[in-house]
Amino acid sequence: MKNSLTNLIKKYNDERNSFASDRAFIRYVIDSEYSTISKHYNEKNKKILLEKLRGIHSALKVKTFIPEPFKEISDDYILNEKKLVIVSDIHFPHHDPQTLEAVADKLDENTALYINGDALDCYEASRFDKKPTVPKMKEEFEMFAKWVTSLKCKRIYYKMGNHEERWEKSANKTTFALFKAASLPWILENEFGVKNIIYIESKQFTQWGKVYILHGHECQSGANSPIGIARSVGLKTYMDTIVGHSHVTNSFPFKRADESFFRVYAAGCACSLRSEYARVNRWNNGFIEAEMYDDGDYNIFNWLINEKGRLKAM
Ligand SMILES: [Fe+2]
Repeated sequence: MKNSLTNLIKKYNDERNSFASDRAFIRYVIDSEYSTISKHYNEKNKKILLEKLRGIHSALKVKTFIPEPFKEISDDYILNEKKLVIVSDIHFPHHDPQTLEAVADKLDENTALYINGDALDCYEASRFDKKPTVPKMKEEFEMFAKWVTSLKCKRIYYKMGNHEERWEKSANKTTFALFKAASLPWILENEFGVKNIIYIESKQFTQWGKVYILHGHECQSGANSPIGIARSVGLKTYMDTIVGHSHVTNSFPFKRADESFFRVYAAGCACSLRSEYARVNRWNNGFIEAEMYDDGDYNIFNWLINEKGRLKAM
């Protein structure tokens, strides 16, 4: 029996030069002059024959060369920190000094700072008409560099948001006289002396335990409606998530049928609420303070800064 099958496979292989699929091969067996082989098997044992055929087939599969696919986005960044302060949407030079002070107050030698996108506005690199009076990229870099090097904390992470993408996109098309086409982290390090920051790419995810930290522009459009933003994001990610990008403080707990929870936190911004491009808006200042416990559970204060400058946990 074994020999018959081996001969059958060899004959098939010689004729076809490759196996299209297990099904095609098995169909071939049944349709071929050797179909009598399968007739020796009753229905019950036919399964065993088919299993054998599949095994032999896969062992004889033609090995082809498959090139490595181009990786559009890096693997998730695994963030191993117990205590975090997460600040989103600073938009230098339109930063809110009061919010940055509140952020600095929460930092210490055991707490890492996670700058969650849109720290630089990158106005000069945008595709819009530009007013000559608005500070240029050089000034944005300078402001960021001076601020970040003055902070006292355990470590600093910097995730690229959609505004940092302006720089990358613009650098792809044109070059600025001052910096040429260099990446934003390279410029910060080499032109402004900002060392020891861990950068996370624009569309790369960050995994902090079971929580995903995103800027917010990674979600499909429609997820960032300023009404019920945390719920909208949760309906996209279906997992514990922290986002910025919407400039609105908002939290939403989801309860599953097995009585477990996942929670989504949208953070307020650290930029001025008086923006020319959205003069009437629903934005608020805020940031997130987060702690991870040894058992994988975590706690979050989603701070909103009210009109009196007071912190309110949401
Ligand atoms: Fe954003």
